[in-house]
Amino acid sequence: MGGGRLAGKAAVVTGAARGIGRATAELFAAEGARLVVTDVDAAALDGLRAALAARGAEVTAVAGDVAAVDDARSMIAAAVRAYGRIDVLVANAGILPLSTVDRTEPEDWDRVMAVDGRGMFLTCKYAIEEMAARPGGGAVVCVSSISGVAGQAGQAAYGPAKFVATGLTKHLAVECAPQGIRVNAVAPGTIRTDRVRDLADEPGGAEYLDAIVRLHPLGRLGEPAEVARAILFLASDEASFVTGAVLPVDGGYLAQ
Ligand SMILES: NC(=O)c1ccc[n+]([C@@H]2O[C@H](COP(=O)([O-])OP(=O)(O)OC[C@H]3O[C@@H](n4cnc5c(N)ncnc54)[C@H](O)[C@@H]3O)[C@@H](O)[C@H]2O)c1
Repeated sequence: MGGGRLAGKAAVVTGAARGIGRATAELFAAEGARLVVTDVDAAALDGLRAALAARGAEVTAVAGDVAAVDDARSMIAAAVRAYGRIDVLVANAGILPLSTVDRTEPEDWDRVMAVDGRGMFLTCKYAIEEMAARPGGGAVVCVSSISGVAGQAGQAAYGPAKFVATGLTKHLAVECAPQGIRVNAVAPGTIRTDRVRDLADEPGGAEYLDAIVRLHPLGRLGEPAEVARAILFLASDEASFVTGAVLPVDGGYLAQ
């Protein structure tokens, strides 16, 4: 792959096997990035690696759990090993358990904080350490959510975990600016991933989805590719004076 908005940049995308992460990896490959794709689902990840390689992308796959120190380290190390550096991290991996406070058990809190909170911290930490070790800076894009900016019912653990993404973004942006490392976030509204699409076939699911759609002023759900395009902007040099931003990709949800 020759030109493109990320031509020659080494990028790590976590949680790349499906959903927003997959759309991001596909767009990054089309824009010339050299990729490390990572996911806890090794089989699905290998499918993505093969698909990207078939399109001519430079791609390495690392299976692992972002919440585990050794795995998070090895995801970042793979970029340095394969490409000599890491220019971009998309900290996307996450689980999305939706539940009210009375139904959320301490273990549920620990699990979502481990993946969406600690996993995002670990991958940011190891990526920023490598970015700071070489000239040229870097760009981190954390995938937060409308739930990481505003309150919603039924998100007693997931919502606070997404506030971690928003908080990490702002604090790391300030701390890492002197090293030329930009840290931004996207805050997607409800996005039509497989899980959300499947809801339509579940009892009461269609009504639930209708209610969600009405909360988005543009009157529809978002597509993974629409989030990927916002991530691309923040990761690219086009956003060279943007850091600490939390960009809603939400059809107007947060504007209300
Ligand atoms: N779908 C939405 O409506 C929506 C809205 C706002 C924010 N988000 C955020 O977008 C991100 C991606 O969500 P998605 O909707 O694409 O979900 P998804 O379930 O389609 O994809 C998430 C991917 O992350 C992987 N993953 C899960 N736990 C992991 C771990 N411990 N280590 C490594 N990989 C792991 C999964 O295997 C999966 O491939 C999440 O951070 C989520 O909070 C999603």
